[in-house]
Amino acid sequence: MAEQNAPPAGPDLTLGIALSELPGDMLVGHVGDDEILLVMSGSQIFAIDAHCSHYHGPLADGLVVGENVRCPWHHACFDLRTGEAVRAPALGALAVWKVECEGDRIFVRERREQPKPRTKGVVESPDRIVIVGGGAAGFAAAEMLRRQDYRGGITMLSSDDAPPVDRPNLSKDYLAGSAPEDWLPLRPDEFYKDSAIDLRLNSEVASIDQGARNVVLADGKTVAYDRLLLATGAEPVRLAVPGADQPHARVLRSLADCRAIIGLATGARRAVVIGASFIGLEAAASLRARNVEVHVVGLEQRPMERVLGPEMGDFIRALHEEHGVIFHLGDTVSAIDGKRATLKSGGVIEADLVMVGVGVRPRLALAEKAGLTMDRGVTVNAYLETSAPGIFAAGDIARWPDRHSNQKIRVEHWVVAERQGQTAARNMLGQREAFDAVPFFWSQHYDVPINYVGYAEKWDQITVDGSIAGKDCLVRYKSRGRLLAVASIYRDVASLEAELAMEVADA
Ligand SMILES: Cc1cc2nc3c(=O)[nH]c(=O)nc-3n(C[C@H](O)[C@H](O)[C@H](O)COP(=O)(O)OP(=O)(O)OC[C@H]3O[C@@H](n4cnc5c(N)ncnc54)[C@H](O)[C@@H]3O)c2cc1C
Ligand code: FES
Repeated sequence: MAEQNAPPAGPDLTLGIALSELPGDMLVGHVGDDEILLVMSGSQIFAIDAHCSHYHGPLADGLVVGENVRCPWHHACFDLRTGEAVRAPALGALAVWKVECEGDRIFVRERREQPKPRTKGVVESPDRIVIVGGGAAGFAAAEMLRRQDYRGGITMLSSDDAPPVDRPNLSKDYLAGSAPEDWLPLRPDEFYKDSAIDLRLNSEVASIDQGARNVVLADGKTVAYDRLLLATGAEPVRLAVPGADQPHARVLRSLADCRAIIGLATGARRAVVIGASFIGLEAAASLRARNVEVHVVGLEQRPMERVLGPEMGDFIRALHEEHGVIFHLGDTVSAIDGKRATLKSGGVIEADLVMVGVGVRPRLALAEKAGLTMDRGVTVNAYLETSAPGIFAAGDIARWPDRHSNQKIRVEHWVVAERQGQTAARNMLGQREAFDAVPFFWSQHYDVPINYVGYAEKWDQITVDGSIAGKDCLVRYKSRGRLLAVASIYRDVASLEAELAMEVADA
């Protein structure tokens, strides 16, 4: 039987809808096969594509804030007037539609010509901008430079062998076998040529010559810059035990790492995952989707307790156990001898694949060698400037003054890296914009998404609204009565509202 597409949602907007029929501030309707979101903001009515350009999240379940709508899934934000994705993780603009009012009826019939993004414009126009790193921050910076109408040269140097990819997918759907390879590139190959971004892969930057204002590649070639962005990310910590260098023992950071793990998982009976934190557990879930028996070995007594607290930790453990994962907590692997992984506690697990997910270390060598001010990361100010004139840093390497926690923090979150890349891009053009986004990350385990806003290294109180075990909760982390962070499961609007409240409270 031929597959049929689901009919588009809501009323046909070409036939019009009475203002009084709008339930609240948002309504989904359609024009032909296109689903459109009608949004009332003050006295204005906007019509915009109904789905987020990141992973297709339903914007009608999100939050309207002034002339923006925020996505419920990973907190991207779109300008209702221009369709621009003003906050990552979405990068692509949404189509906007003409709204016509006739009497008390509203009609939507056709798309508007895509408006230009609202930009502050180029205040300073350096001739050559060089970006070191082809990951979240590096890519978002390059894309934002062109969005801001920067016409000078952009060179992006990446030690990876693949163009920038959607890294979070490497432990989730792609590893599970449910996302095709063509979902991974952040942009198709033509984008770089069309946008005049000189992307050079397999290009390791070995040093920075600040006097000559150039970077020196490992092969001795130099590339000149007027502004430089360091976005070198992090690398997985390797396990220092005998046998950890065997071909079936792998870390997961790059597309090449992920392909190697998929190769080993194909036909594998059993895997050992070392590390019971985000990457390890997401990978465990994905390997279970491939019907591989999974043993997770972790030093902690409860998975993710350090970040999410004991109750969430117990829930995550139970969730993975329901899916057949076998935990060995309070333990580690002391040796890998062929297929035999020996536990410190004495047992042996025979495994075709060992995945090591014991944390990452920021890649700081370049910044250290250049003599930049360091503090367990590259120290940057609110504008993401390092201690050296014209050199900026963003993403996993950057420690910045976080307005919300009043601390200098460094995090390893995809959305933060992208948003920092975007802010650094604007500041390389002289726009002087402070980075003030509330940190956000998400993690996915089977059908359970966990969203987290804020930053709580330590807390003295956790309160739970709803039920963690029931997969419907908002968990607040507080210190001396002050809200530091919120984790949630299927409470998307509450999570967006918490983010907004933190923005307003700390403004
Ligand atoms: C499998 C996986 C899943 C993840 N899932 C999530 C998630 O669900 N949610 C979340 O918030 N975060 C997630 N993360 C973390 C997130 O991906 C990182 O925080 C983010 O990628 C950091 O961006 P970045 O630009 O700082 O570094 P990266 O994205 O790591 O990019 C660094 C780039 O710099 C290049 N580079 C390094 N040194 C040099 C050099 N000397 N010369 C040239 N190039 C160099 C690298 O090759 C790479 O291209 C995940 C990470 C992994 C590995
Ligand atoms: S689906 Fe909208 S931000 Fe991810």
